[in-house]
Amino acid sequence: MEQREPIIRLTNLGKEFKTANGTVKALEDINLDIYAGEIFGIIGLSGAGKSTLVRCINYLEAPTSGDVVFEGTSLKSLGRAGINQARKSMGMIFQQFNLLSQRNVLRNVCFPMELQKTPKDEAVKRARELLEMVGLSDRENAYPAQLSGGQKQRVAIARALATNPKVLLCDEATSALDPNTTKAILQLLKEINRKLGVTVIVITHEMGVIEAICDRVAIIDKSHIAEVGAVSEIFSDPKSAIGRQLIMGDTVHTDFGDSKLVRIIFDGRASNEPVLSNLILACKVPVNIMYAATKDVNGTALGQMIIQLPKDEGEEKRVLNYLATAGIPYEEVTRDDF
Ligand SMILES: Nc1ncnc2c1ncn2[C@@H]1O[C@H](COP(=O)(O)OP(=O)(O)OP(=O)(O)O)[C@@H](O)[C@H]1O
Ligand SMILES: [Mg+2]
Repeated sequence: MEQREPIIRLTNLGKEFKTANGTVKALEDINLDIYAGEIFGIIGLSGAGKSTLVRCINYLEAPTSGDVVFEGTSLKSLGRAGINQARKSMGMIFQQFNLLSQRNVLRNVCFPMELQKTPKDEAVKRARELLEMVGLSDRENAYPAQLSGGQKQRVAIARALATNPKVLLCDEATSALDPNTTKAILQLLKEINRKLGVTVIVITHEMGVIEAICDRVAIIDKSHIAEVGAVSEIFSDPKSAIGRQLIMGDTVHTDFGDSKLVRIIFDGRASNEPVLSNLILACKVPVNIMYAATKDVNGTALGQMIIQLPKDEGEEKRVLNYLATAGIPYEEVTRDDF
C-alpha cells in the first residue's frame, strides 16, 4: 500500500514556559502525523496544552524541543523568512474572532492580502469571492460591531483563507457560539475542506465538535497525547482514562444510602420491553440493581428484579410514578425479603 506523506509531522515536540514560579511544561514528547485533506481534531480539558500545540504548529511559539515538519521541511531548519513563508500556508481562526474593529468586512478580508502586497483590485475580487463562499456577500460594508458572533466567525474564516492556505487551524472557533450557529460554522468548515481541499485542524474541548466533522482525533491530556485514531474507533472504544472521561462523561454519583427497595415483577409482556432502560431514560435518575432472576414457566419468562431507588424524595417519586403509569407491577420490599 502506498504510504501517505503527512502534511504536518510533529516529532518529539516539547514546549516549556519559564515563569516567575518556575518552568511550566505545556507540551512534552508530542508525536503526531496529520495528513493532507483530513479534518483532524485535537481535544482536551482546559490547560491540557491545545492552544500551545497549534501555536507551535505555525511557529507563533517556537518549540523548546523536537520539530515541526511541514510538507517535508523541518521548520526548525528554516530562518525567519522561511518560517514566514510556511506560516502563510497556515490560516488561523480563534474563539474571539480577532477582527479589526476599525475596518469593515471587506477590508478585514483584504488585510492579509495587503500585507502580501497583492494588487488592490485583485484583493477585492478575491475577498468578494470568499465572502460569497461564507455567505456574507451582502454585509461587506458592515463593521464587526454590527455583526453576530456567527457572522464575525464567517468573516474570520474568509480572512484566514485569503492567502490560499493549505491548512486552517481553528482554536475553539465555535466555543463562543450557540449550538445552532456552531452547527452552521462546522458545516462551513467541512464544506471548505471538501471544496478547497484545505486540511482543517480543529482544537476543542467539546466532543460534539469532533463528532460533527472530524475524521481523526488526538486526545491531549496534561501536556501529552493520550491517544490518536479514527473518530469512529475512539468514540466506540476509548482506551485512555481521559478518553473514557471525555466520551462517556463522569460516572454519576448518586446517594443511595438505605433508600427504598422495590421489586419489579416481570410478566410475559414486560420481559420483551427494556423496562429498566426506559425507566432510567424517562426519569433521568440512576437505579441500583440489587437482585434479578428470571424463570421460564410454560414458555413465558417470569421474573423479578429488586432495584434500589435514589435517596432523593423527588427522584424516588418519579420512579414510582413511572412504574405505575407504565403499568409495571411492583411492590416495596425490605432487605430481609431477599
Ligand atoms: N505564555 C505562557 N506562559 C506561561 N505559561 C503558559 C503560557 N501559555 C500557556 N501556558 C501554560 O501552558 C499550559 C497549557 O496551556 P494552553 O493554553 O495550551 O491550554 P489549552 O489546552 O489551550 O487550555 P484552554 O482549553 O483553557 O484554552 C497551561 O498550564 C498554561 O498555563
Ligand atoms: Mg486554549
